[in-house]
Amino acid sequence: MKDLALAEAGKRKIEWANQQMPVLQSIRKQFIKERPLKDVRITACLHITSETANLAITLRDGGADVVLCASNPLSTQDEVAACLTKDYNIPTFAIKGEDNATYYAHLNAGLDHKPQITMDDGADLVTTLLTKRTDLVGNVLGGTEETTTGVIRLRAMAKDGTLKYPVIAINDALTKHMFDNRYGTGQSTIDGILRATNLLLAGLKVVIAGYGWCGRGVAMRAKGLGADVIVTEVSPLRALEAVMDGFRAMPMSEAAKRGDIFITVTGNKSVITAGDFEKMKDGAVICNSGHFNVEIDIGALERMSGSHRPARPFVEEYALRDGRKIYLLGDGRLINLAAAEGHPAAVMDMSFANQALSAEYLLKHFGELERQVYSVPEAIDRQIAKLKLESMGVQIDRLTPEQEQYLASWSEGT
Ligand SMILES: NC(=O)c1ccc[n+]([C@@H]2O[C@H](COP(=O)([O-])OP(=O)(O)OC[C@H]3O[C@@H](n4cnc5c(N)ncnc54)[C@H](O)[C@@H]3O)[C@@H](O)[C@H]2O)c1
Repeated sequence: MKDLALAEAGKRKIEWANQQMPVLQSIRKQFIKERPLKDVRITACLHITSETANLAITLRDGGADVVLCASNPLSTQDEVAACLTKDYNIPTFAIKGEDNATYYAHLNAGLDHKPQITMDDGADLVTTLLTKRTDLVGNVLGGTEETTTGVIRLRAMAKDGTLKYPVIAINDALTKHMFDNRYGTGQSTIDGILRATNLLLAGLKVVIAGYGWCGRGVAMRAKGLGADVIVTEVSPLRALEAVMDGFRAMPMSEAAKRGDIFITVTGNKSVITAGDFEKMKDGAVICNSGHFNVEIDIGALERMSGSHRPARPFVEEYALRDGRKIYLLGDGRLINLAAAEGHPAAVMDMSFANQALSAEYLLKHFGELERQVYSVPEAIDRQIAKLKLESMGVQIDRLTPEQEQYLASWSEGT
């Protein structure tokens, strides 16, 4: 980690996040009593933020022996890494801005812990383990995966037989993607763009590539700030949904001419390419909130530019040979984590409650599980939703016995 002297600032940040994470707090209380993860070695490759710190502390309090490494070179909060190492005895291998070699050195340091459970956000840890550290596979009982992109990679591994242990897809839980991807990414992506640029969104044309869970959230928040939102999609269903939600949908080649700000959030590669840069207005701002920095063809932008230089922190100005300037935010990496603080704690509360309870589930059930990707059990999803509502002081109705019978019977209603 960068500097142990940052630990005090990290502690304040971790405690602040904890205040917003009541579901994880209640799981932590239960873990302290029951110690369900006693002596289990966990390596968690996640964004090193104050919310992740609270997950790591919860796992530790459940009895686990936890180490952390970063799942993204730009998302680490150095003060949090310092505090975890110094005050909580949780070794954390991560430095904000680390280069690719250091990033993988940190992943390997995490793997030296010989994990029995792996936690991933994007599947880099499991991929490294299964390709470069195969001697460790025998120790692993199971894993969890946080995000859409990681789940896609893991399902591809399971399909061709490469996956060597069961993994629970946290992203599949409704209490994850309906909230984290939509409300978390929606708000924090806009937050990252505003912190990096201080632009006034009202009146600007904001092009959002991908109208999935994340894209819907980003579009909703951009509209709320007065932007004129254009959506690009490859799925007819999602494009139709965008249109019925009141947005214009069109191909990127068309949107490229109109947009002031471009946000990719597809989980795909080469979504904005050289042909699109050719058409963009002078001053266009481009960024990505999808998992990997492959959605924008940065290589093409570099080749098309005479030079580039930093304009502000997290804003790189590319001077094109025809005189136009294009501004790339956060090196094309997740803008909400690069220029802001990632998702608010209140939403990570549910995602990480899924992580903690899924780790417990894996330990209880690993003997019954195949080398496949599993969804989070529905009972966990419901429990988390219930706890979250309780923490918000919200009560709801219950089915009466008569209603239960009505809903369960095909002959009722005639
Ligand atoms: N920034 C964050 O904090 C954060 C949080 C959660 C997920 N993610 C990442 O965001 C990405 C999207 O996640 P999601 O849950 O919204 O996925 P999703 O599958 O719900 O949505 C992705 C959408 O992109 C569309 N798409 C694919 N290729 C496209 C292309 N070339 N042009 C236009 N649209 C295209 C798909 O049709 C789909 O509708 C993933 O990489 C995920 O890992 C980021």
